[in-house]
Amino acid sequence: MTTPLPAPWQAFGVRRPTPGDHLPVLAVLDGWWGGLGGEEGSRQRALLLPKLMFQHFGDSSLLVTSGDRIVAFLIGFLSPSRPAESYIHFVGVDPAERGRGLGAALYERFFAYSRAHGRSVVRAITSPVNKGSHAFHTRMGFVTEPGPKEFEGVPVQPDYDGPGLDRLSFRKDLSRTR
Ligand SMILES: CC(C)(COP(=O)(O)OP(=O)(O)OC[C@H]1O[C@@H](n2cnc3c(N)ncnc32)[C@H](O)[C@@H]1OP(=O)(O)O)[C@@H](O)C(=O)NCCC(=O)NCCS
Repeated sequence: MTTPLPAPWQAFGVRRPTPGDHLPVLAVLDGWWGGLGGEEGSRQRALLLPKLMFQHFGDSSLLVTSGDRIVAFLIGFLSPSRPAESYIHFVGVDPAERGRGLGAALYERFFAYSRAHGRSVVRAITSPVNKGSHAFHTRMGFVTEPGPKEFEGVPVQPDYDGPGLDRLSFRKDLSRTR
């Protein structure tokens, strides 16, 4: 997972995140998400990344840095309960570095790691208002699972994460190339 990144990111370091990275990653969220969802969106994002993610999921997660600057992160894990599945919990790329394949490179690493651990399916979810995330996951070969509701033509799982917290549910079959 942490072999050096290829061009054009050779100057960046890639490593497993540690608990010391928790607060620095929280500090970039609002800027990187562009305030999506207002104050409530900001609160929800921070709650998605408690310290335990950095304490217990480091081996299956990735952090890209340039000196002290955080450039990108991927928090994921091998499902303990579903032996065929892995899960990408949260991903972000510095807006200054987007659109050049870094997000895809992190996903490809996680896919390879998942395959190496016998996983055949990767799952992820996102908020229905996050159009960029939907486009990115679709481009990475994820299918948006059918749901009983639609938001702007995309199937939605109502109340997925609690009352009023609708989500898109993504699934990727690792035997398929994107
Ligand atoms: C989503 C995100 C991680 C993508 O990172 P990135 O490094 O810009 O993505 P890449 O350059 O690797 O893009 C991979 C593919 O997805 C497409 N894609 C990425 N973001 C897209 C967007 N906002 N709209 C449309 N397509 C997009 C790219 O065009 C590319 O397609 P290609 O292979 O045909 O060229 C990044 O935009 C981000 O951090 N967004 C904010 C955080 C977020 O929403 N995270 C996901 C929910 S947890």
